[in-house]
Amino acid sequence: MTLKEFRAVFPGAIIGNVGYTQDTAEERIASGDVDLIAFGRPFITNPDLVERFRHGWPLEKFDDNHHWYTFGPTGYTTYPEHGKDVPEA
Ligand SMILES: Cc1cc2nc3c(=O)[nH]c(=O)nc-3n(C[C@H](O)[C@H](O)[C@H](O)COP(=O)(O)O)c2cc1C
Repeated sequence: MTLKEFRAVFPGAIIGNVGYTQDTAEERIASGDVDLIAFGRPFITNPDLVERFRHGWPLEKFDDNHHWYTFGPTGYTTYPEHGKDVPEA
């Protein structure tokens, strides 16, 4: 079922996700297919994701996923905000 088809039968708010960028998220919301877009991986590597979107700051890429599903903060809370130093693990 596509989001368009889902929209036709579901009266509640629809949240899309997986692989969106700021541009594709805004396009999807503007199309009326969804009400919101959730971000996963971009938020891990960009703790200030909303501010980066707001100001057009560059995004850190999520190309290092070997810490996912492991214990400890490394790889989760060790990405810096724009223009700041890398936080200690
Ligand atoms: C480290 C990590 C853990 C995740 N854990 C879950 C989970 O427990 N349950 C779930 O439904 N989705 C989980 N997801 C998937 C995210 O909710 C989301 O669907 C996915 O990251 C795709 O969105 P994105 O392209 O913005 O990252 C996880 C994603 C990541 C990166």
